[in-house]
Amino acid sequence: MKDLEALFKHFVKDIYYAEKQVLKTLPKMARKATSEQLREAFEHHREETEQQVENLEKVFELLGLKPRGVTCEAIDGILEEGKEIMEETEDGSTRDTGMIAAAQGVEHYEITRYGTLVAWAKTLGMTEAAQLLQANLDQEKAADKKLSSLATASLNKKAA
Ligand SMILES: [Fe+2]
Ligand SMILES: [Fe+2]
Repeated sequence: MKDLEALFKHFVKDIYYAEKQVLKTLPKMARKATSEQLREAFEHHREETEQQVENLEKVFELLGLKPRGVTCEAIDGILEEGKEIMEETEDGSTRDTGMIAAAQGVEHYEITRYGTLVAWAKTLGMTEAAQLLQANLDQEKAADKKLSSLATASLNKKAA
């Protein structure tokens, strides 16, 4: 990567790929959820993810690029691990707890990437891109918080 702009473009492509993979996975997670609230949370986040993909497409436009992802092995690994938990955990409420943990892994990955991208967009003077990326970051943080509260509720239920 020759400069920050090149690195920024690479990370935009990376998160674009990640969001597209997440978009494919969330409906499967929603179907596998036992708790109604968890299913709704996954469905809600799928809708948000669609908006996030659109926001990233606007960022590509601002960069004068066609939207195109690059394979992100980090997200592939996180999602693969989630898939194993989803498929191999038989007890419904235990599976819910495992899926929440896997989903939080995804959110944390997205939070770190968007946090970096917002900072770099600002450094590069790309105010509009920074705002679009910040909107995505805010949704990821809210999703993570929601999952934390569902995890607590589900563990409390299990303990009772
Ligand atoms: Fe996302
Ligand atoms: Fe997310």
